[in-house]
Order: sequence, then structure tokens, then C-alpha cells
Amino acid sequence: MCWGLRNRLSKVISPKTGKTVMLAVDHGYFQGPTTGLRELKKAIDPLIPYADCLFITRGMLRNCVDPQTKSPIFLRVSGGPSILKDDLSDEHITTSMTEALRLNAVGVGMSIFVGGVNESRTVANLGKLVNEAEEYGMPVLAITAVGKEMARDERYLGLACRMAAEQGAHIVKTYYCDNFKEVVKACPVPIVIAGGKKIDEKDALQMARNAIDDGAVGVDMGRNIFQSENPVGMIKAINAVVHKNASVDDAFNIYEKEKK
Ligand code: R5P
Repeated sequence: MCWGLRNRLSKVISPKTGKTVMLAVDHGYFQGPTTGLRELKKAIDPLIPYADCLFITRGMLRNCVDPQTKSPIFLRVSGGPSILKDDLSDEHITTSMTEALRLNAVGVGMSIFVGGVNESRTVANLGKLVNEAEEYGMPVLAITAVGKEMARDERYLGLACRMAAEQGAHIVKTYYCDNFKEVVKACPVPIVIAGGKKIDEKDALQMARNAIDDGAVGVDMGRNIFQSENPVGMIKAINAVVHKNASVDDAFNIYEKEKK
């Protein structure tokens, strides 16, 4: 792996803990003004100090993030269909590598839709993105998007993660599931979990705890942070689980304390 790529990855995955808390705020790329991110700048400014990086689109980055930010930027570079479409898999690469370099990104990310109508195109796009990104020492994060009809189980997520790794992704983002250890075992590149739909804070902390215990290198979490009653408390609590090996109870105390 080239020096530049390793250097960029080290900005995201802490060399000290080997873990990462990525803050996912790219939801608007197909959901529009998502609950909690309607006023994106206002929502993320207080959270940035507790995240290892932001996962965001170029448009929101340019308009809502101070260029003097200390936060490394992972750029979502795919898109296409909105939530109004039945087939969300109809994605293309929408942001160029030149733009990612111009924006000083430390990585680029896109979704693959294994089992989706456009499975083949999205997987091929991942391969092409890796080819291009590696020319510049840019890491690629592959997201295993899950269609409505697809089960979030070990078999499916294991398949999708492995396919992402086979195409050369440097990090894979997927969902937590029962027997997650087996998904991790079969995917020789670092895995981060998405949080998915908003659930109870303690349950979200438990999910993060389980994922770390099962071998994930961290989270790329959105709604369970920015839709929480107390987003700062929640990101602090998640950070403690990921980087300080905090128990769920200890992390929940951090959340509760911040709430007060
Ligand atoms: C989804 O397509 C986006 O890539 C999100 O970044 C991802 O799902 C993580 O966000 P959440 O924790 O809200 O699921």
C-alpha cells in the first residue's frame, strides 16, 4: 500500500487505538433534508470535535463546513436516484477524483447494491473507482447498501462485504447483524458499521459495543447520533465505546451526564 494511501487512512483510523468514529452526514444525497440534518451546519458543528472524520457530499462540504476545519473529510462520490424511486441501486459515480483531491479529501466512498437491479454496474463502478483512487493514494470506502427486500443477515452482508473487499475497497461499511464475527472473518479489510434507523440510545451503544467486540474497527454512524435527543452526548458515548473500550453502561452514563 503506497505511503499516501496509508497516510490518508491514518487520519481516519486512529494509529493509537486502531479504531474510528466516522460521522455520517451524507444522507441528503438521496433523502434530501433528512430529519436532524435539515440545517446541516448547525447540526454538525458541535459534533465535529468528537468525530475522527466526516462522511459527506461535496455540496454540503463546500456550503456547510468551514475550510479551516481540522476534521478529515471522506467524500461520498456516488448518487443518482432519490427516495422517490423504487430502485435505489441506479447509482453512478457523480464526483470526480480531481474534485476529491481539490477538496483535500482523505478518502472517497460509494455504495454497492448487491442483489439490486443494478448490482453489476455498482460493483464494476467500485472496481473502477479503486483503480482511479489508487493512482492518487486515495482510500476507497465501499458501502454495502441494503435494499428493502434484502435481509440484513450474516449470509447477505457477508456476501456483500466480501465482494467489496474483492474489488479492492480499503474500508467496508456495512450493518451489524447476528453472527457478525463471521462477516468480519471473511472480509480482510477493516469494517465499520452504519447505525441504521434511529433506535433507543442504549441499544445503539450496545450495537456499537457488539460490533467492536466482533472485530469492527469502528462506526460510520449518522441517525443514531444526529437524531438523538442529545447528539453531543451520543457521539461522546459512541467515542468512548470505540476508542476507550467503554462498557455500554459507562457509555450511557456519559450520554446521560451530557444531557443534564
Ligand atoms: C446511507 O446510505 C449513508 O451512506 C449513511 O452514511 C449510512 O447509512 C450511515 O448512516 P446511518 O448511521 O444513519 O445509517
